[in-house]
Amino acid sequence: MDRLRIQGGRPLEGEVVAAGAKNAALPILAAALLTDEPLVLARVPRLKDVETMLRLLQYLGAEHEWRPDGTLWIRMAGEESSTAPYDLVKTMRASVLVLGPLAARRGVARVSLPGGCAIGARPVDLHLHALEALGAEISLDHGYVEARCGRRLRGGIVAFPAVTVTGTENALMAAVLARGTTEIRNAAREPEVVALAGALNAMGAKVEGAGTSLLRVQGVERLHGATLSVIPDRIEVGTYLIAGAITGGKVTVKGCVPDHLDALLAALAACGAGVERGADSVHVWGAGPLRPHDVATAPYPGFPTDLQAQFLALLTQAEGTATVTETIFENRFQHVLELQRMGARIEIAGSVARVHGPTRLQGAEVMSTDLRASACLVLAGLVAEGETVVHRVYHLDRGYEDLEGKIRALGGRISRIRGTV
Ligand code: UD1
Repeated sequence: MDRLRIQGGRPLEGEVVAAGAKNAALPILAAALLTDEPLVLARVPRLKDVETMLRLLQYLGAEHEWRPDGTLWIRMAGEESSTAPYDLVKTMRASVLVLGPLAARRGVARVSLPGGCAIGARPVDLHLHALEALGAEISLDHGYVEARCGRRLRGGIVAFPAVTVTGTENALMAAVLARGTTEIRNAAREPEVVALAGALNAMGAKVEGAGTSLLRVQGVERLHGATLSVIPDRIEVGTYLIAGAITGGKVTVKGCVPDHLDALLAALAACGAGVERGADSVHVWGAGPLRPHDVATAPYPGFPTDLQAQFLALLTQAEGTATVTETIFENRFQHVLELQRMGARIEIAGSVARVHGPTRLQGAEVMSTDLRASACLVLAGLVAEGETVVHRVYHLDRGYEDLEGKIRALGGRISRIRGTV
């Protein structure tokens, strides 16, 4: 397995360009199941999770091609299978995104219960309730969930008791081809949900209210192809901005949507980092000692759980004590154990981590446990004394396009050690 070797202690300085958002690309790819006409997608990030989704869609009958101009062409060519098998689903929880579109378009979907990041219990009950509300019959069989309906789903009211991002996306993709109208209440407001709604509308769907917690969908008979561009990855952007702040450097990320990063930018400014927004760029710099600042994760527009680990690394460098409260996922503090091995002083009590800074972190061999925890360890390595080796880099490869290239472009010392096993 590959490892990353990082030599810490150098401020990152320069510019990088944001990649397309993994979490926007995955549902839009799943939406290809809703039509037999092609989607042509620009700015799809070249990531392991995207490859996994493409393999899954291929299994379900899609053909695709990366074109010389960097766009991805994808079209459903057949319907041999409507089963998402365990082998593919186990590596990526987002595979569950094929459930809604398969049920909507084919009247049957069989999806293995998902795996993905090991960050607590991540059930799919809300996805299933949504499909039931649209007339699907759900059964569980040998580790697979099966959703069946007659010829078409029927519009209805989907009222989510808790905000779920991919649950909202599944409900949306199911509703666009349902007979009649659907209301999705307590819908997720994440930019990636808005991007999916935009993509579906470009394919001929009638979705209103994206970006609010009430989505209204008028079902249509059929959808057509479309040419689209994936929105920038706010989590990737946020990671590089934190890299600028933690190393006391000067980092500009171009090609992003600063408004998508409001919560992070406010938190960085509260920590004393310099923050400047452009029209489609953000510049962050070290403006003196970092101050402690408490954050609590929340659904969008709150502080993203996917930046919690990276921000926690930053707080190890702040002068004082701050708390990080994780409200979305249980058990999402595995990175803390590794940070402690680098010398960080952090206590965990339930969903709250109390970080006492500043600590001169020491380079160490550390283990990635999930995607964002890995990014946290890379950030810690960049500011640590000496060499850090991050093991199990495959977690990072799921979600960061050319991480080493981008960090090197900013002057960071990082290299990949290729592993044989
Ligand atoms: C998505 C993102 C992930 C991010 C998360 C929260 C994608 C591909 N992934 O994941 O990067 O960390 O949003 O912003 O977009 N829950 C249930 N039952 C369900 C569904 C969810 O109890 O059926 C719970 C989860 O365990 C969690 C909470 O709801 O505690 C929110 O999870 P959810 O928003 O669904 O996360 P994902 O969509 O899986």
